[in-house]
Amino acid sequence: MSQRDRKTLVTGGAGFLGSHLCDRLIERGEDVLCVDNFFTGTKRNITRLLGNPRFELMRHDVTFPLYVEVDRIHNLACPASPVHYQHDPVQTTKTSVHGAINMLGLAKRVKARILQASTSEVYGDPEVHPQPESYWGRVNCIGPRSCYDEGKRCAETLFFDYQRQHGLDIKVVRIFNTYGPRMHPNDGRVVSNFIVQALRGEDVTLFGDGSQTRSFCYVDDLIEGMLRMMDSPNGFAGPVNLGNPGELTMQELAEKVLRATDSKSRLVKKPLPQDDPRQRKPDIALATEKLEWQPKVSLDDGLQETVAYFRRLLSE
Ligand SMILES: NC(=O)c1ccc[n+]([C@@H]2O[C@H](COP(=O)([O-])OP(=O)(O)OC[C@H]3O[C@@H](n4cnc5c(N)ncnc54)[C@H](O)[C@@H]3O)[C@@H](O)[C@H]2O)c1
Repeated sequence: MSQRDRKTLVTGGAGFLGSHLCDRLIERGEDVLCVDNFFTGTKRNITRLLGNPRFELMRHDVTFPLYVEVDRIHNLACPASPVHYQHDPVQTTKTSVHGAINMLGLAKRVKARILQASTSEVYGDPEVHPQPESYWGRVNCIGPRSCYDEGKRCAETLFFDYQRQHGLDIKVVRIFNTYGPRMHPNDGRVVSNFIVQALRGEDVTLFGDGSQTRSFCYVDDLIEGMLRMMDSPNGFAGPVNLGNPGELTMQELAEKVLRATDSKSRLVKKPLPQDDPRQRKPDIALATEKLEWQPKVSLDDGLQETVAYFRRLLSE
Protein backbone atom coordinates (compact mmCIF):
# COMPACT_ATOMS: atom_id res chain seq x y z
CA MET A 1 0.00 0.00 0.00
CA SER A 2 1.34 3.47 -0.84
CA GLN A 3 1.62 6.09 1.89
CA ARG A 4 -1.11 8.11 0.12
CA ASP A 5 -3.73 5.38 0.63
CA ARG A 6 -2.79 4.66 4.22
CA LYS A 7 -5.01 5.50 7.19
CA THR A 8 -3.03 5.91 10.39
CA LEU A 9 -4.42 6.23 13.90
CA VAL A 10 -2.39 8.21 16.45
CA THR A 11 -3.64 7.88 20.03
CA GLY A 12 -2.48 10.76 22.21
CA GLY A 13 -2.15 12.72 18.96
CA ALA A 14 -2.85 16.11 20.58
CA GLY A 15 0.06 15.70 22.99
CA PHE A 16 3.67 16.80 22.69
CA LEU A 17 5.08 13.86 20.70
CA GLY A 18 1.76 12.85 19.12
CA SER A 19 1.20 16.24 17.50
CA HIS A 20 4.68 16.24 15.93
CA LEU A 21 4.03 12.71 14.69
CA CYS A 22 0.69 13.80 13.14
CA ASP A 23 2.53 16.67 11.38
CA ARG A 24 5.06 14.27 9.85
CA LEU A 25 2.43 11.71 8.80
CA ILE A 26 0.34 14.39 7.09
CA GLU A 27 3.48 15.74 5.38
CA ARG A 28 4.11 12.31 3.89
CA GLY A 29 0.56 12.12 2.57
CA GLU A 30 -1.10 9.72 5.00
CA ASP A 31 -4.67 10.08 6.30
CA VAL A 32 -4.43 10.65 10.04
CA LEU A 33 -7.02 9.96 12.70
CA CYS A 34 -5.95 11.68 15.92
CA VAL A 35 -7.60 10.30 19.05
CA ASP A 36 -7.18 12.11 22.36
CA ASN A 37 -9.09 12.75 25.58
CA PHE A 38 -7.23 16.07 26.08
CA PHE A 39 -6.02 15.16 29.57
CA THR A 40 -2.59 16.64 28.87
CA GLY A 41 -2.87 17.31 25.14
CA THR A 42 -4.39 20.44 23.64
CA LYS A 43 -6.10 21.48 20.41
CA ARG A 44 -3.50 24.22 20.16
CA ASN A 45 -0.87 21.56 19.33
CA ILE A 46 -2.82 20.48 16.24
CA THR A 47 -4.47 23.76 15.21
CA ARG A 48 -2.47 23.82 11.96
CA LEU A 49 -3.89 20.45 10.98
CA LEU A 50 -7.55 21.02 11.80
CA GLY A 51 -8.57 22.32 8.35
CA ASN A 52 -6.62 19.64 6.48
CA PRO A 53 -8.93 17.15 4.72
CA ARG A 54 -6.49 14.33 5.47
CA PHE A 55 -6.67 15.02 9.22
CA GLU A 56 -9.49 13.96 11.55
CA LEU A 57 -9.76 14.56 15.28
CA MET A 58 -11.77 12.38 17.64
CA ARG A 59 -12.25 13.01 21.37
CA HIS A 60 -12.06 9.57 22.91
CA ASP A 61 -10.57 7.88 25.96
CA VAL A 62 -8.51 4.80 25.03
CA THR A 63 -9.62 2.98 28.18
CA PHE A 64 -12.83 2.38 26.18
CA PRO A 65 -12.94 0.25 23.03
CA LEU A 66 -12.66 1.99 19.68
CA TYR A 67 -14.13 0.79 16.38
CA VAL A 68 -12.51 2.43 13.36
CA GLU A 69 -10.96 1.24 10.10
CA VAL A 70 -7.23 1.94 9.97
CA ASP A 71 -4.07 0.39 8.53
CA ARG A 72 -1.60 1.46 11.21
CA ILE A 73 -1.78 2.47 14.86
CA HIS A 74 0.72 4.52 16.84
CA ASN A 75 -0.26 4.12 20.49
CA LEU A 76 0.98 7.17 22.41
CA ALA A 77 -1.97 7.94 24.69
CA CYS A 78 -0.68 8.22 28.26
CA PRO A 79 0.35 11.14 30.45
CA ALA A 80 4.15 11.13 30.41
CA SER A 81 5.37 13.47 33.13
CA PRO A 82 5.33 12.58 36.85
CA VAL A 83 3.16 15.61 37.70
CA HIS A 84 0.47 14.39 35.31
CA TYR A 85 0.72 10.62 35.70
CA GLN A 86 0.70 10.89 39.50
CA HIS A 87 -2.39 13.12 39.46
CA ASP A 88 -4.67 10.07 39.05
CA PRO A 89 -2.39 7.01 39.27
CA VAL A 90 -5.18 4.46 38.89
CA GLN A 91 -6.27 6.12 35.66
CA THR A 92 -2.62 6.13 34.49
CA THR A 93 -2.33 2.36 34.86
CA LYS A 94 -5.73 1.94 33.20
CA THR A 95 -4.66 4.12 30.28
CA SER A 96 -1.52 2.05 29.73
CA VAL A 97 -3.05 -1.37 30.30
CA HIS A 98 -6.69 -1.06 29.17
CA GLY A 99 -5.55 1.34 26.44
CA ALA A 100 -3.08 -1.27 25.15
CA ILE A 101 -5.71 -4.02 25.29
CA ASN A 102 -8.22 -1.87 23.39
CA MET A 103 -5.73 -0.79 20.73
CA LEU A 104 -4.35 -4.32 20.33
CA GLY A 105 -7.93 -5.60 20.00
CA LEU A 106 -8.53 -3.03 17.30
CA ALA A 107 -5.28 -3.96 15.50
CA LYS A 108 -6.32 -7.61 15.61
CA ARG A 109 -9.79 -6.91 14.18
CA VAL A 110 -8.62 -4.73 11.31
CA LYS A 111 -5.20 -6.44 10.83
CA ALA A 112 -3.30 -3.21 11.43
CA ARG A 113 0.38 -2.86 12.27
CA ILE A 114 0.65 -1.34 15.75
CA LEU A 115 3.48 0.56 17.44
CA GLN A 116 3.71 1.10 21.19
CA ALA A 117 5.35 4.22 22.62
CA SER A 118 7.06 2.59 25.59
CA THR A 119 9.60 4.28 27.80
CA SER A 120 13.04 4.12 29.35
CA GLU A 121 11.13 4.02 32.66
CA VAL A 122 10.77 0.26 32.10
CA TYR A 123 14.45 0.12 33.18
CA GLY A 124 13.58 1.79 36.52
CA ASP A 125 16.63 2.90 38.51
CA PRO A 126 19.15 0.90 36.47
CA GLU A 127 22.29 -0.92 37.65
CA VAL A 128 23.48 -1.13 34.03
CA HIS A 129 24.71 1.95 32.23
CA PRO A 130 23.94 2.75 29.44
CA GLN A 131 20.81 0.60 29.16
CA PRO A 132 20.60 -1.90 26.29
CA GLU A 133 17.22 -3.44 25.36
CA SER A 134 18.38 -6.77 26.85
CA TYR A 135 18.49 -5.26 30.37
CA TRP A 136 15.38 -6.27 32.34
CA GLY A 137 15.31 -3.25 34.61
CA ARG A 138 15.01 -2.46 38.30
CA VAL A 139 11.55 -1.08 38.96
CA ASN A 140 9.85 -0.51 42.31
CA CYS A 141 6.35 -1.95 41.86
CA ILE A 142 4.76 -0.09 44.80
CA GLY A 143 6.23 3.42 44.63
CA PRO A 144 4.75 6.68 43.37
CA ARG A 145 6.20 6.15 39.86
CA SER A 146 4.96 2.57 39.59
CA CYS A 147 1.60 3.43 38.00
CA TYR A 148 3.51 4.65 34.96
CA ASP A 149 6.51 2.28 34.97
CA GLU A 150 4.55 -0.91 35.64
CA GLY A 151 1.69 0.19 33.39
CA LYS A 152 4.15 0.59 30.53
CA ARG A 153 5.87 -2.72 31.35
CA CYS A 154 2.52 -4.51 31.32
CA ALA A 155 1.64 -2.85 28.01
CA GLU A 156 4.87 -4.26 26.51
CA THR A 157 3.93 -7.70 27.85
CA LEU A 158 0.52 -7.42 26.18
CA PHE A 159 2.09 -6.40 22.87
CA PHE A 160 4.41 -9.42 22.83
CA ASP A 161 1.63 -11.78 23.96
CA TYR A 162 -0.66 -10.53 21.18
CA GLN A 163 2.20 -11.17 18.77
CA ARG A 164 2.85 -14.71 20.07
CA GLN A 165 -0.79 -15.63 20.60
CA HIS A 166 -2.52 -13.87 17.69
CA GLY A 167 0.32 -13.22 15.24
CA LEU A 168 -0.06 -9.43 15.44
CA ASP A 169 2.40 -7.21 13.58
CA ILE A 170 3.80 -5.22 16.51
CA LYS A 171 6.56 -2.65 17.01
CA VAL A 172 7.78 -1.41 20.39
CA VAL A 173 9.99 1.63 20.93
CA ARG A 174 11.41 2.62 24.32
CA ILE A 175 11.59 6.38 24.32
CA PHE A 176 14.17 8.19 26.45
CA ASN A 177 13.77 11.81 27.60
CA THR A 178 12.67 13.90 24.65
CA TYR A 179 12.23 17.67 24.54
CA GLY A 180 11.18 20.36 22.11
CA PRO A 181 8.42 22.82 21.18
CA ARG A 182 4.90 21.91 22.48
CA MET A 183 6.10 20.41 25.72
CA HIS A 184 3.61 21.24 28.44
CA PRO A 185 4.85 24.37 30.31
CA ASN A 186 3.82 23.09 33.77
CA ASP A 187 4.58 19.40 33.56
CA GLY A 188 7.57 19.45 35.89
CA ARG A 189 9.88 17.89 33.29
CA VAL A 190 13.36 19.20 33.70
CA VAL A 191 13.91 20.91 30.34
CA SER A 192 10.55 22.73 30.28
CA ASN A 193 10.86 23.51 34.00
CA PHE A 194 14.28 25.10 33.65
CA ILE A 195 13.30 27.09 30.54
CA VAL A 196 10.03 28.41 31.96
CA GLN A 197 11.64 29.37 35.28
CA ALA A 198 14.56 31.04 33.50
CA LEU A 199 12.28 32.99 31.11
CA ARG A 200 10.12 34.18 34.01
CA GLY A 201 13.22 35.22 35.97
CA GLU A 202 12.27 32.83 38.79
CA ASP A 203 14.75 30.66 40.71
CA VAL A 204 15.77 27.62 38.66
CA THR A 205 15.25 24.56 40.88
CA LEU A 206 17.86 21.85 40.76
CA PHE A 207 16.88 18.62 42.53
CA GLY A 208 19.59 16.88 44.56
CA ASP A 209 23.14 18.12 44.16
CA GLY A 210 22.75 18.50 40.39
CA SER A 211 25.24 15.71 39.63
CA GLN A 212 22.60 13.22 38.42
CA THR A 213 22.81 12.79 34.66
CA ARG A 214 20.27 12.56 31.85
CA SER A 215 20.37 12.53 28.08
CA PHE A 216 17.92 14.47 25.94
CA CYS A 217 16.69 13.78 22.45
CA TYR A 218 15.24 16.53 20.27
CA VAL A 219 11.68 15.80 19.17
CA ASP A 220 12.39 15.80 15.39
CA ASP A 221 15.05 13.10 15.83
CA LEU A 222 12.72 11.02 17.98
CA ILE A 223 9.83 11.18 15.50
CA GLU A 224 12.18 10.16 12.68
CA GLY A 225 13.16 7.11 14.75
CA MET A 226 9.52 6.20 15.45
CA LEU A 227 8.64 6.43 11.76
CA ARG A 228 11.63 4.29 10.78
CA MET A 229 10.55 1.69 13.31
CA MET A 230 6.97 1.72 12.02
CA ASP A 231 8.28 1.30 8.45
CA SER A 232 10.81 -1.42 9.39
CA PRO A 233 10.43 -4.89 7.86
CA ASN A 234 7.87 -7.36 9.15
CA GLY A 235 9.30 -9.49 11.92
CA PHE A 236 11.41 -6.84 13.65
CA ALA A 237 9.28 -6.00 16.67
CA GLY A 238 11.91 -4.51 19.00
CA PRO A 239 11.85 -3.35 21.69
CA VAL A 240 14.24 -0.72 20.44
CA ASN A 241 15.66 2.21 22.39
CA LEU A 242 15.22 5.67 20.90
CA GLY A 243 17.05 8.52 22.56
CA ASN A 244 20.14 10.64 22.49
CA PRO A 245 23.16 9.08 24.23
CA GLY A 246 24.84 12.46 24.85
CA GLU A 247 24.93 12.66 28.65
CA LEU A 248 25.11 15.70 30.88
CA THR A 249 24.53 16.58 34.53
CA MET A 250 21.48 18.56 35.59
CA GLN A 251 23.83 21.32 36.76
CA GLU A 252 25.27 21.53 33.22
CA LEU A 253 21.78 21.55 31.70
CA ALA A 254 20.66 24.35 34.01
CA GLU A 255 23.70 26.42 33.03
CA LYS A 256 23.03 25.83 29.31
CA VAL A 257 19.41 26.94 29.76
CA LEU A 258 20.47 30.08 31.62
CA ARG A 259 22.78 30.94 28.71
CA ALA A 260 20.19 30.09 26.02
CA THR A 261 17.55 32.28 27.71
CA ASP A 262 19.99 35.00 28.70
CA SER A 263 18.44 34.84 32.17
CA LYS A 264 19.58 36.29 35.49
CA SER A 265 17.74 33.57 37.48
CA ARG A 266 19.55 31.88 40.40
CA LEU A 267 20.11 28.13 40.70
CA VAL A 268 18.46 26.75 43.87
CA LYS A 269 18.90 23.18 45.16
CA LYS A 270 15.99 21.08 46.51
CA PRO A 271 15.83 17.47 47.80
CA LEU A 272 15.66 14.69 45.20
CA PRO A 273 12.14 13.17 44.74
CA GLN A 274 11.57 9.50 45.71
CA ASP A 275 12.72 6.86 43.18
CA ASP A 276 14.29 9.47 40.90
CA PRO A 277 16.86 7.53 38.84
CA ARG A 278 20.47 8.67 39.33
CA GLN A 279 21.36 8.28 35.69
CA ARG A 280 19.73 7.24 32.46
CA LYS A 281 21.30 6.94 29.04
CA PRO A 282 20.22 4.89 26.02
CA ASP A 283 22.34 2.33 24.26
CA ILE A 284 21.20 2.93 20.68
CA ALA A 285 23.29 0.28 18.92
CA LEU A 286 20.16 -1.68 17.94
CA ALA A 287 18.40 1.37 16.45
CA THR A 288 21.57 2.25 14.56
CA GLU A 289 21.91 -1.28 13.19
CA LYS A 290 18.26 -2.05 12.38
CA LEU A 291 16.87 1.38 11.56
CA GLU A 292 20.05 3.20 10.48
CA TRP A 293 18.96 5.83 12.95
CA GLN A 294 20.82 8.15 15.23
CA PRO A 295 19.99 11.60 16.57
CA LYS A 296 21.33 14.56 14.58
CA VAL A 297 20.20 17.70 16.42
CA SER A 298 22.67 19.08 19.01
CA LEU A 299 21.40 20.01 22.46
CA ASP A 300 22.34 23.66 21.86
CA ASP A 301 20.32 23.82 18.62
CA GLY A 302 17.37 21.95 20.13
CA LEU A 303 17.36 24.24 23.16
CA GLN A 304 17.29 27.33 20.90
CA GLU A 305 14.10 26.05 19.19
CA THR A 306 12.51 25.09 22.49
CA VAL A 307 13.35 28.40 24.18
CA ALA A 308 11.89 30.27 21.17
CA TYR A 309 8.67 28.24 21.53
CA PHE A 310 8.31 28.95 25.25
CA ARG A 311 9.14 32.63 24.74
CA ARG A 312 6.19 32.89 22.29
CA LEU A 313 3.91 30.87 24.57
CA LEU A 314 4.65 32.93 27.68
CA SER A 315 4.21 36.23 25.85
CA GLU A 316 0.65 35.36 24.69
N1 LIG B 1 8.24 12.84 26.04
C1 LIG B 1 9.05 11.93 26.52
O1 LIG B 1 10.18 12.25 26.88
C2 LIG B 1 8.62 10.49 26.59
C3 LIG B 1 9.55 9.56 27.10
C4 LIG B 1 9.17 8.23 27.16
C5 LIG B 1 7.93 7.82 26.71
N2 LIG B 1 7.07 8.74 26.22
C6 LIG B 1 5.75 8.25 25.80
O2 LIG B 1 5.31 8.89 24.63
C7 LIG B 1 3.90 9.11 24.68
C8 LIG B 1 3.60 10.58 24.45
O3 LIG B 1 4.23 11.34 25.45
P1 LIG B 1 4.22 12.95 25.44
O4 LIG B 1 5.50 13.40 25.98
O5 LIG B 1 3.78 13.42 24.11
O6 LIG B 1 3.12 13.22 26.55
P2 LIG B 1 1.79 14.11 26.50
O7 LIG B 1 1.21 14.09 27.86
O8 LIG B 1 2.07 15.43 25.86
O9 LIG B 1 0.87 13.29 25.49
C9 LIG B 1 0.04 12.25 25.88
C10 LIG B 1 -1.29 12.42 25.17
O10 LIG B 1 -2.15 11.34 25.53
C11 LIG B 1 -3.43 11.86 25.84
N3 LIG B 1 -4.09 10.92 26.75
C12 LIG B 1 -3.78 10.64 28.03
N4 LIG B 1 -4.61 9.72 28.53
C13 LIG B 1 -5.47 9.38 27.52
C14 LIG B 1 -6.56 8.50 27.42
N5 LIG B 1 -6.93 7.74 28.45
N6 LIG B 1 -7.23 8.43 26.24
C15 LIG B 1 -6.88 9.21 25.18
N7 LIG B 1 -5.84 10.08 25.24
C16 LIG B 1 -5.14 10.16 26.39
C17 LIG B 1 -3.15 13.21 26.46
O11 LIG B 1 -4.26 14.09 26.45
C18 LIG B 1 -2.02 13.71 25.58
O12 LIG B 1 -2.47 14.37 24.44
C19 LIG B 1 3.42 8.60 26.04
O13 LIG B 1 2.90 7.31 25.89
C20 LIG B 1 4.69 8.56 26.85
O14 LIG B 1 4.63 7.56 27.84
C21 LIG B 1 7.38 10.07 26.17
